[in-house]
Amino acid sequence: MPMTGVDLTADILALKRERNAVILAHNYQVKEIQELADFVGDSLGLSYKAAETDAEVIAFCGVHFMAETAKIVNPTKTVVLPDLDAGCSLSESCPADKLGAYLEAHRDRNFYVVAYINCSAGVKALSDVICTSGNAVKIVESVPKDRNILFVPDQNLGAWVTEQTGRPMELWKGNCYVHVEFTRQSIEKIRATCPGSPVVAHPECTYAVRMLADEVCSTEKMVSYCKSSPAQSFIIATESGMLHRLRREIPGKEFIAGPTDHCACADCRYMKMNTLEKLHDALLNLSPEITLPEPLRARAELPIRRMLELSK
Ligand code: 13P
Ligand code: SF4
Repeated sequence: MPMTGVDLTADILALKRERNAVILAHNYQVKEIQELADFVGDSLGLSYKAAETDAEVIAFCGVHFMAETAKIVNPTKTVVLPDLDAGCSLSESCPADKLGAYLEAHRDRNFYVVAYINCSAGVKALSDVICTSGNAVKIVESVPKDRNILFVPDQNLGAWVTEQTGRPMELWKGNCYVHVEFTRQSIEKIRATCPGSPVVAHPECTYAVRMLADEVCSTEKMVSYCKSSPAQSFIIATESGMLHRLRREIPGKEFIAGPTDHCACADCRYMKMNTLEKLHDALLNLSPEITLPEPLRARAELPIRRMLELSK
């Protein structure tokens, strides 16, 4: 007989106890995973939780670079990702060998590399400091004033940080295939149907969309913004899983998915690869497991630790 969602959830929770595991989930995960996770949050919150946990196993429900970050700060723990193919278009837009070649070809610029956490361990290992959308402004402000900054891999987040800080930066030309789907027309159209609802957008959105937004922030800050705003309904221009987190945490208010030109909302196909079944199997088999060569892990840890120190 096939298992029901209730059976599966009960089995996952039993396995979690047996394995001494913690389940960490990003705000873009499916509803069922968010509901059983020990912690649901943005990349910054998840990095802190991963660094602090004393569980023996971390079941990371997010995408590959997030689980890899958890492994980098926890080399002796077992880190599993329910679907190893859960990648990220942004991370893929900046391969470590290309970044290495670029830095080599521009040695005269002596770049200080600020890497958005959405990148591989190889890119982290070539960076001076990591940032997330939740702390990017603070991190860039901490870079010595006499250094040229190369910001990788998201050109939209990088441009937004320059708008906020006035700090010029060279931007790697990468982007998130989900957030660039929101357009000026799609957001103006939905706004016309619900006037007065603030538009809340992720900084990975394009300039045209950020200009229309009432608030531009990380997924975690979306929760505090919508909680404290006097508005009763909001248009949310980010991945659709965020709507679940907002509705669960702020039940009295209305959240409208920001549409694209083709769809009523935007889904990240990578984030949605994780399912309850795959999480169950990952805890049962302790696989697929994230592993890294030690020299690479150790080098990639330095800029992450610097970020965690700076954004305390
Ligand atoms: P947050 O850190 O704001 O949750 O963003 C992560 C992400 O992948 C956005 O697409
Ligand atoms: Fe990567 Fe974009 Fe998916 Fe976030 S939403 S994980 S940046 S592809």
